[in-house]
Amino acid sequence: MPSLSDQHIVLGITGGIAAYKSAELVRRLVDHGAEVQVVMTDAAKAFIAPLTLQALSGRPVRDALLDPSAESGMGHIEIARWADRLVVAPASANFIARLAGGMASDLLATVCLATSAPIALAPAMNQGMWSKSATQRNIATLKADGITMLGPNSGDQACGDVGPGRMVEPAEIINHLTISEKIPVLDGTSVMITAGPTWEALDPVRVLSNHSSGKMGYAVAAAAVAAGAAVTLVSGPTALDPPPGIQYRPVRSAEEMLAAVEQDISTCDVFIGVAAVADYRPARSETSKIKKCADSITLELVRTPDILARVAQQVKRPFTVGFAAETDQAIANAREKLHNKGLDLIAVNQVNETNNPFGSEENHLVLISQSDEIDLGRNSKAVLAEQLISEIAHRYHDQHST
Ligand code: CTP
Repeated sequence: MPSLSDQHIVLGITGGIAAYKSAELVRRLVDHGAEVQVVMTDAAKAFIAPLTLQALSGRPVRDALLDPSAESGMGHIEIARWADRLVVAPASANFIARLAGGMASDLLATVCLATSAPIALAPAMNQGMWSKSATQRNIATLKADGITMLGPNSGDQACGDVGPGRMVEPAEIINHLTISEKIPVLDGTSVMITAGPTWEALDPVRVLSNHSSGKMGYAVAAAAVAAGAAVTLVSGPTALDPPPGIQYRPVRSAEEMLAAVEQDISTCDVFIGVAAVADYRPARSETSKIKKCADSITLELVRTPDILARVAQQVKRPFTVGFAAETDQAIANAREKLHNKGLDLIAVNQVNETNNPFGSEENHLVLISQSDEIDLGRNSKAVLAEQLISEIAHRYHDQHST
């Protein structure tokens, strides 16, 4: 079992029906060897009894900012210093707003403000509240501040709605904590990632493209930064903000993406091709808008360069990782790509009725190398990205220690 022994984990619980999952989370953290200090907001106590959490964690639950019984009367600073990691699960819309605003209005918010430990939030709320621009603004602020978001997942909600806002399962939170512990440092390595779709121009106002949102590639870039790598993200057009702390190279077409990759690839240790690069582009890009005249028109398309294959073919090449989006015979087709393109590793997105990764917060990935196959299962793209980076780091270090 992966270990969190010697880890001091502060588990913050805020008001929401998902608080019932926090009891299981405490139990699992303790099973993994962690010492757990639960800190609850007043609203959380309406959903789950502090005594339950005290019994499971073996420590009195803390909830009061001004607690005369706390050593030296500064409980929030003691807890903030004691913490190796801080997880808030569930994190309500109200708590997220208070944290984004830097409020110190109760013990939990104050501990979050005072601590230098890494913070992860597992948001849980009604889908309408999650989608509101105020909430999304707050989430973007917290991410930019370096706070990790675990989920939320999509699906049936306690209120009867269906959509994003379900708290991730305790197992996913444990996964995140144990994996971030295990990641071998990528300090001193340089990682280049391609992400998003490409746009292949038909005329000044139209393009050929695909459904890629860029979320998977951006999550991989964020995980590589968190593992200590110097990251260059070459991205096609997306609606996403680039993760903080990276070199960002925005491009549009496959040709532009190749040029940006070739500019820096000779100094890269790891290349991860997550982009959904268009395989074909219009043979001609018209300089004026194509006007509607004929009943039908025929487009001639020509192949774009295969960026991933070109990287893998270099004499002094980086550790090279590809992605494959497959609808049929996913594993067999991905194995063929691994072999034909000469890759070290390939991550297969299975595209079917149960998994359509395009634009989704979640995905199902299988990793395939010449010697093994690992099913990472279905999870949030953030968690899968951490697992992928962890696997890449292990394999990169193995390759360079022989
Ligand atoms: N890729 C690339 N340049 C291209 C096409 C694909 O770098 N012109 C990379 C993608 O970033 C991905 C991998 O190749 O890492 C596989 O992409 P995919 O579209 O699944 O496969 P293709 O090689 O394009 O083959 P096909 O479309 O026939 O499945």
